[in-house]
Amino acid sequence: MLDERPIKKSKRPYRPRPVIEVNPDCLVDKEFQPDEWSLAFGHIPVLARESVLALNIKENGVYVDLTMGGGGHTRQILSQLGPKGRLLALDRDAETLIWAGLWGQGDPRLILKKANFDDIDSILAELKLGRVDGMLADLGLSSRQLFGPGRGFSWQIDEPLDMRMDPESGVTAYDIVNSWPEHKLIDLIRFIAEERSGFRLAKRIVEERAKKPLKTTGDLADLVSKVLRRSGHHARTNPATKVFMGIRLVVNREMEALATLLKKAPGCLKPEGRLVVISFQSLEDRQVKKCFCSMEGKKIWDNLFKKPITPTELELENNHRSRSAKLRIGRLKRVVKEKTIPTDQ
Ligand SMILES: C[S@@+](CC[C@H](N)C(=O)[O-])C[C@H]1O[C@@H](n2cnc3c(N)ncnc32)[C@H](O)[C@@H]1O
Repeated sequence: MLDERPIKKSKRPYRPRPVIEVNPDCLVDKEFQPDEWSLAFGHIPVLARESVLALNIKENGVYVDLTMGGGGHTRQILSQLGPKGRLLALDRDAETLIWAGLWGQGDPRLILKKANFDDIDSILAELKLGRVDGMLADLGLSSRQLFGPGRGFSWQIDEPLDMRMDPESGVTAYDIVNSWPEHKLIDLIRFIAEERSGFRLAKRIVEERAKKPLKTTGDLADLVSKVLRRSGHHARTNPATKVFMGIRLVVNREMEALATLLKKAPGCLKPEGRLVVISFQSLEDRQVKKCFCSMEGKKIWDNLFKKPITPTELELENNHRSRSAKLRIGRLKRVVKEKTIPTDQ
């Protein structure tokens, strides 16, 4: 028998809980222009003003740009820091550090380091920076990595299959495509690339590579388009886009790095410190959302915006690559004590 007790109506009128602390419209800067360094590097920073405002920068605070790239966000953060402020900027790709040597040379507030952000706790300890006021992660690839020659990330340029953000270490896309067993390729294509025809494509990859290895991005892109022919509105996106993205995520262990960062972040931030994440891929956004909004996550984080912040019409018009960007902001509620990071102060 179902419980038929009448539902009690509350006398108080319903008011949504104020999760939003700032009106998102205030975060929109209609006049943001990438500087000449970003243009020369070939990457327009995404949600640049919004993400830097989300860090709530204090003049003398200590911040980390976990994914420096061409330094578009890094320079925005620096522009708001006073002379005693500090900014640690990391990237796995050595080329970005050489670039930063040009634009950031001689700025005593800037500390550059070639590193994976999943090591953030040991890096802060090594540099004796202590807990920091905020960290920004602008995930994925820069346009320079995607379209620059010799990196093997794009199906639009025919070159050796590589896809490593750090070309000095790790397995390449060639290794995965030509040596992974079929069942692992199926999982990669179905669950990471989120392409439904994973079974069919993985089978064909295994058949083709038995005849001759798939050496270049062109070899793989041709095979993908033969196996996954699109019709109707699906024809607008090349199926290779998703497959290449899935392989890239695996080559660089991007999901694992993000998971480790989310786990370590509370141990690296001061109380009320902020973790700001821009993601471009649904699996990554889900990871961040779960971290800030799950029952467990809510004990540690205040999720400052109920919905992710996305680019404005104007940004979308000016920068097509921003179309899938989602920005989430977590503010640390309480300090997680298990890790004490040494500090110079
Ligand atoms: C989207 S780009 C950042 C662009 C930058 N915000 C700008 O405006 O120029 C992402 C950068 O993060 C780096 N990256 C991605 N995952 C990383 C990780 N786990 N650790 C360190 N750097 C990473 C990539 O090499 C790339 O340069």
